[in-house]
Amino acid sequence: MGIRKIVTRGDDVLRKKSRPVENFNKKLWNLLDDMKDTMYSADGVGLAAVQVGILRRVVVIDVGEGYMELVNPEIISMEGEQFEAEGCLSCPGESAVTKRPFTVRVKAQDRNGNWHIYKGSGLKARCFCHEIDHLDGFLFTDRAASDEEKLKAFEDKKKLEDND
Ligand code: NI
Repeated sequence: MGIRKIVTRGDDVLRKKSRPVENFNKKLWNLLDDMKDTMYSADGVGLAAVQVGILRRVVVIDVGEGYMELVNPEIISMEGEQFEAEGCLSCPGESAVTKRPFTVRVKAQDRNGNWHIYKGSGLKARCFCHEIDHLDGFLFTDRAASDEEKLKAFEDKKKLEDND
């Protein structure tokens, strides 16, 4: 077990770009194991390495559909849009409605360096986008929807409900 300290907003490291992982070795596996423990102990659905102060392109996710490790992840396609409230373990007490794609496809390596393609919609898509954003120094508040976008999303939802 290795629970690491989660860096919070205000620390410059959260704004830095993470470097690709080149060596799939014991050091990476230790980092992944610690990130898993840290995410679960903080009750999170995702964690990026930068949030424990390590500038490497490594992410762990569990939105309730099982645990995933993404090394060097990249979004390869996006579809649709969604406006939902989001938060972040590095920004305790904060939340904002963000604009995100509804569905994304991501390619990523596993802890042994093998490539895989994953697809996620709804919460899983938000989580992929949120964690990959961390690797480029972005926080969810950078993706906050404008008042106009929120109003339009609300009206679209209402229209759908009225038609039911
Ligand atoms: Ni976050």
